[in-house]
Amino acid sequence: MQKLIIKGGNRLRGELSLQGCKNSALPIIAAALLCGEDCTLHNCPRLTDVYSASRILNCLGCRCGFSGNTVMVDSSAVTGTEIPEALMREMRSSIIFMGAMLGRMGECTVSVPGGCELGPRPIDMHLAAMRKMGVDVREGGGRILCRTSGGKAKGAKINLSFPSVGATENIILCAVTAEGETVINNAAREPEICDLCGFLRACGADISGDGGSSIVVNGRMKLHGCEYSIMPDRIAGATYLSMTAAAGGEIILKNACIPEMEPFLTVLEQTGCSIYTGGGKIYLRSSPRLRAVPDRIRTMPHPGFPTDAQAVLMSALTLADGTSIFEENIFDCRYRHTEALVKMGADIQVLGKVAVVKGVSKLSGASVEATDLRGGAAMAAAALAAEGTSEITRISHIDRGYEKFEESIRLLGGDIRRV
Ligand code: UD1
Repeated sequence: MQKLIIKGGNRLRGELSLQGCKNSALPIIAAALLCGEDCTLHNCPRLTDVYSASRILNCLGCRCGFSGNTVMVDSSAVTGTEIPEALMREMRSSIIFMGAMLGRMGECTVSVPGGCELGPRPIDMHLAAMRKMGVDVREGGGRILCRTSGGKAKGAKINLSFPSVGATENIILCAVTAEGETVINNAAREPEICDLCGFLRACGADISGDGGSSIVVNGRMKLHGCEYSIMPDRIAGATYLSMTAAAGGEIILKNACIPEMEPFLTVLEQTGCSIYTGGGKIYLRSSPRLRAVPDRIRTMPHPGFPTDAQAVLMSALTLADGTSIFEENIFDCRYRHTEALVKMGADIQVLGKVAVVKGVSKLSGASVEATDLRGGAAMAAAALAAEGTSEITRISHIDRGYEKFEESIRLLGGDIRRV
């Protein structure tokens, strides 16, 4: 079992080029199945979740090869319609293959992804939408069997009760080659939805309205291959900025997606950090002592404050002057990192969906266990700001989402190593 050893106290300084976005790469790799030709994807992060997605393509008969950060997918041959349970379990997002498989093969067998470290993650909205699109969905023994009649799903009007990112992606993937028009109301507006739609449009799909609450997809008989560059990862960006705010220093993030990061940057700026943006770069200089954020930080669907940035920002605010209040509105179980932060000296009280963070003057190194992807990154941020040495175990969580995590932090002057 690998672990990270972090000696806190170094200020972070330097330039970092942002990795490609995990949450775009996964649905786009699934979408490559739909075009039945070669697709070349640039700026793809090398992450364990991305490798899981490529293994799913392999098991369906597609070829998927990496060259640096470029992935080549050849989906001309498809030999299977079933994803084995073990592969489904490797990552929860494997469920987005459902829409892509229905679009390409007209049928699929997948598994219920089950709960995860963020609490129960039902897929009721995904399944209800597929049924609305004329898919016969049968569940039993943990498996889900889906079959279209005549090999094609049917366009439909779908009103989501919550703008679920995964459900919106699954519907789009199923709809691009379905018969007729699909309208998704109350669709997720996350930038990664726009990235997926950008890729699909490059393959010939007819989609409009993405980025807004109503997405319209006109089914096409056939898509074709394309070359596409995946957007930068706004959450990795939020992580390295939060680390610098916590540990102190001055960094420039290159290859950044600035408008997409605005909801996060607006809040981070309230801590007193100086932030300048332009030309695809974000410059941040930390303030000598961070200030607490005056308004409640409510995680909301985009363009609200992103739930994925809640933990990393919290690490920085444990050291702020004053009390900050978080309200987690997306996931039931997203404060599991707080126990580790408290062990490092933070003053945090969790009451249901609210976390009250009273700033302290210092954190101290400790041995902690990563609870989930962003929670693990938050612990690393706190460790970089703490006095003394910390040890973080279960770092496979961190490897799911951060490419060259220690190398990036070392490049900025942080003292971190993997053993
Ligand atoms: C995606 C992101 C994740 C991010 C989340 C919210 C990927 C790979 N993951 O996850 O990093 O934190 O969006 O921005 O892109 N829900 C239901 N029924 C459903 C679907 C969702 O009740 O059928 C609930 C979930 O349990 C959760 C909420 O809706 O409480 C939001 O989930 P959703 O937007 O679907 O998140 P994911 O797509 O799983």
